Amino acid sequence: MAGSADRYYVTTPIYYVNDKPHLGHAYTTVAADVVSRWHRMNGRSVHFLTGVDEHGQKVLQAADKKGISPQQHVDEMVQPYQRLWQALGIRYDDFIRTTEPRHERVVQAVLQKLKDQGDLYEDVYEGWYSTSAERFWTEKDLVDGKCPDTGQPVEWVRETNWFFRMGKYADQLRDWLDRHPDFVQPESRRNEVLGYLKKDVGDLCISRPASRMSWGIPFPWDDQFVTYVWFDALLNYITALGYHPDGPTSELFAKYWPADHQLVGKDILTTHSVYWSTMLFALGLTPARCLYAHGWWTVEGQKMSKSLGNVVDPHLLIDEYGVDTFRYHLLREISFGSDGDFSHSALMARYNADLANDLGNLLHRAVSMSHKWLGGEVRALGETTAADEALDVLCTRAAGTYTAELEALHFDRAFDALWELIGAGNKYIDTQEPWALNRNGDHARLGAVLRRCLEIVRVAALLLQPVMPGKAQALLAQLGLTGDAPLPLHRVDGLDGLTEGAVLPPGDPVFPRMMELPARVQQLLDGVGGGKGTAAPADKLDRKPKPPPAPKKEPPVAEDSKDLISIDDFAKVELKTGRILEAAPHPDADRLLVFKVDVGEETPRTIVAGIASRFEPETLIGQTVIVVANLKPAKLRGVESQGMMLAAGGKQVKGLCTVTEPVLPGTPVR
Ligand code: MSP
Repeated sequence: MAGSADRYYVTTPIYYVNDKPHLGHAYTTVAADVVSRWHRMNGRSVHFLTGVDEHGQKVLQAADKKGISPQQHVDEMVQPYQRLWQALGIRYDDFIRTTEPRHERVVQAVLQKLKDQGDLYEDVYEGWYSTSAERFWTEKDLVDGKCPDTGQPVEWVRETNWFFRMGKYADQLRDWLDRHPDFVQPESRRNEVLGYLKKDVGDLCISRPASRMSWGIPFPWDDQFVTYVWFDALLNYITALGYHPDGPTSELFAKYWPADHQLVGKDILTTHSVYWSTMLFALGLTPARCLYAHGWWTVEGQKMSKSLGNVVDPHLLIDEYGVDTFRYHLLREISFGSDGDFSHSALMARYNADLANDLGNLLHRAVSMSHKWLGGEVRALGETTAADEALDVLCTRAAGTYTAELEALHFDRAFDALWELIGAGNKYIDTQEPWALNRNGDHARLGAVLRRCLEIVRVAALLLQPVMPGKAQALLAQLGLTGDAPLPLHRVDGLDGLTEGAVLPPGDPVFPRMMELPARVQQLLDGVGGGKGTAAPADKLDRKPKPPPAPKKEPPVAEDSKDLISIDDFAKVELKTGRILEAAPHPDADRLLVFKVDVGEETPRTIVAGIASRFEPETLIGQTVIVVANLKPAKLRGVESQGMMLAAGGKQVKGLCTVTEPVLPGTPVR
């Protein structure tokens, strides 16, 4: 972790209130929430600051348009942010608004101090001003004569203004970057900043004449001027801590500054790395330990626009997928620092692969086999075999890597490490063959194998608490571990945290498989794709996946027949009971499921069945079925099926055939 071992300060940018909170805002704020929850769980004092940027011309214009005061306008506009943070489970410690007196009065004191020490001067300023970006540009910055950031028109403005001697501190900043190679991350962004600093660094215009733009903080010695939006906004990171240039030093400031992580989007890296750092130097303060610039999301391959914004409205995503899935997807899908694309089909695929199949299946297999064969009891670990030891080593490594990567904000790499362990857990079941252990009556080893699988789920749930607080609690509850507060992370690296003899409570699947996109999402996607004048061509949008063409060979299903057969004909069919050990979607066909079924033979059989429209695969694990055992193997969409399961219904399967009393797998059926 950056910073001292026992405290952690993380900030997000303060968002312009004029915008509705969107996916990009949710992204940074979720990242800050995850890392601050993590440090809190590790017993550190954490301060997590977010907030809103409430000054500037756009706010004034929007308020004028509504016929209300700018203060009334910002009081309304801040609410969607606070509502969204609540819905997303964001546990910030402080929320700053730049119109609060605690902020405004310190900004004024900072202006006074900088003027007194000769770091501010008055001059005539002219340049191309972009109202949309609220900043000046030089001629060569413009793209097709328009603002390079927003693409909006610019106007030539000539006026007297106040300037901050930013150039005076440029060498100090170059030196700082030299001595703190981790200050700007990721590395590629650091190079960008170094490139910027190769040029002459000019001074910074920090005022607006109040006659032209009154919605700002007045200069203390001349109320004909208000501060320029960035100068005001950047100071929030210390005004919120109670900093005052004339002292006394507040407790919060003494404890938490410099921040450990300041999270920003790549578009506001210069303002933070250059403007903010030089402002801090002028105040005799040091910059944060790390300024981390993340990438931007596009939506379905396109820049976020109003119409596409609806398709990824964070509230829609929370309502339709659940807050935890959304939080996980944001941090899993792209590495923090790179750009990435959001699509609903990618979210669904990610959910099904990582959560329903890998993690959900591991839990379900271990819990259901424990219930079937061990009365749901957590058993002893027993003697350690080589395979167990490999799992122990992997677990320690996974927890260590997860910790280091998460604390470095490399969320995707943290998940990679954890999923390696989860994958190993599923493989361990396959190789240890608990069904064979059960059949052979080796209950001690059976208990030990299932115990280790349950332990892996416990470790995964503990590590995932900051990311998916609700789902992690649900996983832990299925292991019989409950508590209102997050469970402490100590001993996370050992596969021996459960209590021997504890009985696992019954529970529903924590990550049921998602069969199709939610109807509301599909409707919106259809609307955007088909709507007139929308930015996104229909073919680029997330469409419901087309049903695959019907497989050439239909999986056999029972059908009525009018022709009578002899008893000898019937005797040719070898029917046996089988127990479903594993069930998963066919990799290549939506309507097929692939099963591993124990039919009392050395190895379980693979059976492919066309029942995906009727059953969630996880719900079938542990069921007893009737298997046609002497059917010629047939390949169904590339997977060899070694038998067939009897089912009631015609082409539309209504239910699987089973037996009324418990019988061993492989029992003949006549
Ligand atoms: N008010 C300033 C920040 C002042 S901080 C002292 C501001 N506000 S903003 O609301 O326009 O943007 C806030 C953040 O949202 C920025 O970090 C920006 O990178 C981020 N994003 C805006 N669109 C985004 C995406 N499409 N994807 C990811 N993040 C995006 O700038």
